[in-house]
Amino acid sequence: MSRNPITIKDIRSAKETGRKLVMLTAYDYHTAQIGDAAELDMLLVGDSLGMVVYGLESTVGVTMDDMIRHTQAVRRGCKTAHVVADMPFLTYNTSIREAIYNAGLLLKAGGDSVKLEGGVDFAPTIEAIVKAGIPVVGHIGLTPQTISALGGFKAQGRDEASARAILADALAVEQAGAYSVVLEAVPSELGQLISRRLTIPVIGIGAGPHTDGQVLVYHDLIGLYDRFVPKFVKQFAQLRPQILQAMQDYRDAVRQSSFPAPEHCFRLNETVKAALADLFEQ
Ligand code: KIV
Repeated sequence: MSRNPITIKDIRSAKETGRKLVMLTAYDYHTAQIGDAAELDMLLVGDSLGMVVYGLESTVGVTMDDMIRHTQAVRRGCKTAHVVADMPFLTYNTSIREAIYNAGLLLKAGGDSVKLEGGVDFAPTIEAIVKAGIPVVGHIGLTPQTISALGGFKAQGRDEASARAILADALAVEQAGAYSVVLEAVPSELGQLISRRLTIPVIGIGAGPHTDGQVLVYHDLIGLYDRFVPKFVKQFAQLRPQILQAMQDYRDAVRQSSFPAPEHCFRLNETVKAALADLFEQ
């Protein structure tokens, strides 16, 4: 059965009805197609692509060109899920004018909305982008673009001051007009509290089971990222061994000349072959 495209209204009303939102990162056409077929609510073209697709150490090196190219690919594969495109580091931090412009480019590339990291300090930026007609998802808690300042990929909000600061960030992001917020790597109690206090959906990653939805990185979900597996990740499949096996089988088949087999080959018809007989006889 076909479904209608997921709108911001649908995302907001999911919170009202208590239907959990499911978001997954997608960086290319085929993942977007499968995510859509799986009836996921939201596909995030995350700047995590810098790490899982390009092998960078962090998301800091991701550029607008990267995000535009991957957002276009996801858009081509996605008919109904809501596509959120991440704003890379330094594309919204330097001025509000630049932030609006770059957010607009991501919408032109096919995003339905954009996501940016930051709370209280970025509320004016969120407000300006929303006023320009571009829907925004906030991202608070662990914000990977500033891991140097945060001291690494560590859970946030574990002491009183930090928990209060994250709640303040959440409220500021909502107040600024974001229609949803990603909350990353905080204690479950804080995830629950913030989800209760906000009227917009809170999409958790490492924020416990009580948030209004969950998001995972695709390569984590299918067991493809080799560097580390965060505590909050569940690998719903482990495809790496299967892909490795397929590549090894291919290597062996080529070396043993069992691939390509006759069914994989084009053949000349007998007339053409006869006409070329002189060549084959040489
Ligand atoms: O870039 C990303 O994949 C993200 C998720 C971790 C939420 O921001």
